[in-house]
Amino acid sequence: MIETVKAKIVQNNLTYFIETYGCQMNTHDSEKICGILESIGYCHAQSKKDADLILFNTCCIREHAEERLYGNIGALKRHKDKKPNAIIGVCGCMTQQKDTAEGLQKRFKFVDIVFGTNKIHMLPDMLHDVMIDGKRAAYTDEDASINEGVATKRKSNGSAYVNIIYGCNNYCTYCIVPYVRGAERSRKSADILREVKTLCSEGVKEITLLGQNVNSYGTDLQNDLSFPQLLREIDKQTDVKRLRFMTSHPKDLTDELLACYGDLPSLCEHIHLPVQSGSNSVLTRMNRRYTREHYIGLTEQLRARVPNISITTDIIVGFPGETEEEFSQTMDLAEQIGFDSAYTFVYSSRPGTAAADMSDHLDQDTKSERLARLNVVIKSSMRDKNSLYDGQIVKVLVDGARKRTDGEVGGRTRTAKTVNFLGETSDIGKIVNVRINKVKVHTLYGEKIGEEMTDA
Ligand code: SAH
Ligand code: SF4
Ligand code: F3S
Repeated sequence: MIETVKAKIVQNNLTYFIETYGCQMNTHDSEKICGILESIGYCHAQSKKDADLILFNTCCIREHAEERLYGNIGALKRHKDKKPNAIIGVCGCMTQQKDTAEGLQKRFKFVDIVFGTNKIHMLPDMLHDVMIDGKRAAYTDEDASINEGVATKRKSNGSAYVNIIYGCNNYCTYCIVPYVRGAERSRKSADILREVKTLCSEGVKEITLLGQNVNSYGTDLQNDLSFPQLLREIDKQTDVKRLRFMTSHPKDLTDELLACYGDLPSLCEHIHLPVQSGSNSVLTRMNRRYTREHYIGLTEQLRARVPNISITTDIIVGFPGETEEEFSQTMDLAEQIGFDSAYTFVYSSRPGTAAADMSDHLDQDTKSERLARLNVVIKSSMRDKNSLYDGQIVKVLVDGARKRTDGEVGGRTRTAKTVNFLGETSDIGKIVNVRINKVKVHTLYGEKIGEEMTDA
């Protein structure tokens, strides 16, 4: 059956284009989609306008992400008018929202395929439905299986994402993720270790383990490793130079995990630890299940173990009922901790979540004004933290060319700082020494002072 589809794709030199929204989960899902499409003969299109298959991998974490997407899907009608054989597909988190998949196909008659995050491996069957049977396809029903061995096409820049746990059981009251990504399911540690080993043998130096709450890793498995044990095994059994993970929840950051810092050579001196709010009453309403004091304690312990650790976070302002006093607690926490960087968001109401039904939603002006005030504090700590790097020599894993300046390439330090410098495209995928000579809020600049480093 797949052979018929493959033959058609190869004979007609068909091309694909994917537009990806949202978080690293979606970025990595798109790598799997690329892998599957290329395994059945598709080539990557130079531009969207030439593509025979266009896929939108969607996100619904905030309302504005969703609105933007509807606009962009609408714009594809012209593509279909010009290229009637083109196939249009929508996948990702948005399609897993209640009634959304049917709504999408009703509203946009030219959308041929709609599929959820657990159906990626069935893409060849869906293409068969459309190309051979002339049907539209919708594959979005609940399915909690884990599909191992899916062809994956990663960008070859020395670093790679590896899923360790899917879904989320935390139900923070503002968040749509547990509804669209389902319950927590961990991959077997043997499968993860095998994947990491293969990637290292292919030259990958940096691995980022992915999960909505990596600390829950293994709790749904029998006789397997916990998250800290998994980190230790990866460090011990593989050649990975830099090990990272996203995202860990402050309520589950155990002593066992803290003990990995400063102990495992590959574990990077960086943690992304979303705090969301500095007010205990807001944290309770968010169902985060930790206090501001607990969070501050964690950052102190991390800094005691690894003095140069960089700590980044996510913060939501304008949660329902957030008073000026509660907001000032967030400002105060941000000043006290001094984050290396933070993603700051205005609360966005998501239908079906507990917070959507709470009273006292704030008006847009108040929310935007608080966001602007918080961003001033964050920017200032980013500048302070970055200025510590001035004059220092850092090791940069080079991930690509920078488009703005000719000959400029860039990458990241172990502490997740972006560093740009004049280099060669042959530096991409390597770890090089760079002396920092200019610091800005988002980026460090410097000059290369050595060839590839063997250490990380
Ligand atoms: N699993 C991760 C976060 C995933 S979503 C964690 O638990 O930390 C990424 C970020 O989006 C969240 O940390 C939160 O800051 C933000 N976010 C999630 N839902 C939101 C909403 N309804 N409105 C505004 N920001 C939201
Ligand atoms: Fe959302 Fe909370 Fe789960 Fe993170 S831990 S994905 S914020 S419900
Ligand atoms: Fe968005 Fe889904 Fe990630 S909703 S933030 S793409 S898990």
